[in-house]
Amino acid sequence: MEILHSIVVIIHLIGFATLFGGWLVEAVGKRRITKVMQWGLVIALVAGLALSAPWGLGDPNYAKIGTKLVVVIIVGALLGIGGARQKRGESVPAPLFWGIGILTLVNACIAILW
Ligand code: HEM
Repeated sequence: MEILHSIVVIIHLIGFATLFGGWLVEAVGKRRITKVMQWGLVIALVAGLALSAPWGLGDPNYAKIGTKLVVVIIVGALLGIGGARQKRGESVPAPLFWGIGILTLVNACIAILW
């Protein structure tokens, strides 16, 4: 069980790395929303929900998990709004683009510091 849990944590971190790495590439590039960022969010979300199940390895901190879930939903909304604007040929507004990266980092900080 512990090995499986560790594998899901690694998948969760791959999701985070994919989302944040994809965002960093765009931060120094064209500042667009990409499929890599969207996939990273989906991977981090699905693995995060799986980690939130009772694994019998200690009490999950549901206040922390709930906060991370709210932040991820906001990041998902920003990705959705930015992606829709791009499809209409508009550019992604700066606060929206920076919000994605900053909130992703906020979630990593919550995960480690809380
Ligand atoms: C972009 C969004 C997210 C980022 C950047 C992120 C980041 C991280 C990081 C860095 C860890 C490892 C912390 C450590 O081992 O001390 C972690 C663990 C965890 N995350 Fe996330 N996370 C995100 C979204 C979520 C979501 C949406 C959920 C649940 C709804 C979630 C649930 C968890 C849980 C339960 C753990 C603990 C795993 C354990 O038991 O060690 N995460 N997260």
